[in-house]
Amino acid sequence: MTPFIRRIAAAGIAAMVASIGFAGFADADVNAIKYRQNHTKALGSHLGAISAVMKGEAGKPEHVAGHAAAVAGIGAIAGDLFPAGSGEGKTGALPSIWEKPGEFEKAWMALRDASAKFAEVAAGGDMKATGAAMGTVGKSCGGCHKNFRKKQ
Ligand code: HEC
Repeated sequence: MTPFIRRIAAAGIAAMVASIGFAGFADADVNAIKYRQNHTKALGSHLGAISAVMKGEAGKPEHVAGHAAAVAGIGAIAGDLFPAGSGEGKTGALPSIWEKPGEFEKAWMALRDASAKFAEVAAGGDMKATGAAMGTVGKSCGGCHKNFRKKQ
């Protein structure tokens, strides 16, 4: 290769790498949003299932502990679901998440703590106490949605 051709080839490869890098970023944001939405949908699904059992509509009382453990398991990782850059696009996340990180941290830690307690109480099998602990979890969902999620 002549030096001239070599330079053109190098520029071409650099441009290709840059475009892959860029596409990679955009995909990462879209994937982070999808991942987050699957996570929050799962929270909603488990609470929906528990509520059906509590109302005696379906399932068995002994199912509640498993659902509650799942809520606690994924409730604990909620803080990892909002990487920088994942506030743009098809998302219900409000910019306040990244503008007020301290307040946002409190909101997801409320979910983490309430869901851990919920799982513990549900494992004990006392349905009344379980219902009360679930109420606290529900408040943590609403508390975050009020300030950090777009109105539906
Ligand atoms: C720390 C804040 C926070 C907490 C706590 C929280 N959410 Fe959310 N939730 C959000 C945000 C932000 C969105 C929008 C996500 C997006 O579209 O990127 C969302 C979206 C959702 C969605 C819609 C998902 C979809 O299909 O797009 C459901 C359902 C949901 N949350 C349920 C819950 C339930 C149930 C709880 C409590 C067990 C909960 N959330 C706790 C912040 C939170």
